[in-house]
Amino acid sequence: MRLRGVELIVPQAHEAAEFLETLWGLIPAGARGKTQFFRGTGAHPYILAVRAGDAPAVHAIEFSGLPVEIEELHARVRRSNAPVRTFAELDAPGGGAGLVVQGPEAQTYRFVAEPAPPPALPAERDKPVQVTHAVVNAADVPSSERFAAEVLGFKVSDRTRAMTFLRCNRAHHAIAYAHSDVSSLNHIAFEMNDLDAVMRGIGRMRDAGYEAVWGPGRHGPGNNVFGYFIAPFGGVIEYTAEVEEVPDDYRVGGPDDWKWPPGRTDRWGVSRKDTARISAAERTFRFPPGAMEINGVRLD
Ligand SMILES: [Fe+2]
Repeated sequence: MRLRGVELIVPQAHEAAEFLETLWGLIPAGARGKTQFFRGTGAHPYILAVRAGDAPAVHAIEFSGLPVEIEELHARVRRSNAPVRTFAELDAPGGGAGLVVQGPEAQTYRFVAEPAPPPALPAERDKPVQVTHAVVNAADVPSSERFAAEVLGFKVSDRTRAMTFLRCNRAHHAIAYAHSDVSSLNHIAFEMNDLDAVMRGIGRMRDAGYEAVWGPGRHGPGNNVFGYFIAPFGGVIEYTAEVEEVPDDYRVGGPDDWKWPPGRTDRWGVSRKDTARISAAERTFRFPPGAMEINGVRLD
């Protein structure tokens, strides 16, 4: 199973699209109706979908997997009695059959059967490769964590005081749940080719008037390098690289394994974190209660 990306509902969709293409480095991958698709250079048909809508919201966090993996997932979902809707052909680049399932705090997860990944594009230094993780705010993290492990089939990699990290392949985390009082998208992480590409991205954003709200730095769990920004359309986005790959028997770390000395928020200790701005921005894209839908059709 692989994280494919995120679909957002964005009021200023045109402005968002221009920013994503010209500054953030995503590659337009077509449009369907009110939804514009963007890809990276990696082997995914798209990694971010921006759907024009009245209020910002998360439409779906999306994964792709082999048809047999999607079938096994569907069987677990049915046993769980979680709200689910299946589709025969996704109206998006790459198409594919699959399902949308709703988590305990109205999180919508879309899973698409992909017999084989589409070809990657040639690597480009200043363009993201793929989305490597999405972090979700949740009021009851243990409940969302349990759902991701028992129903979605993910494995816990680490728990810190702030969040739980889970993986669906060798990458240390594809999704994480952060303790909050709302159900929302905390941030989306776009993987760059290497540390140099992350630093160049931070510089490019700075030239355009976007100071990093956190970074450059190197995380504890996952060991990835990072630079965080607040997008002009409101959410938090991250350039990252060097995400740790972990073995099946990776020891699950706990809060005591991930403590920083006072004043530090990462391994390097050189960056400041603008917690106030980040905390506000990570509440922008909510999972609206009861709003589970696919392609505009509500799940009832
Ligand atoms: Fe991140």
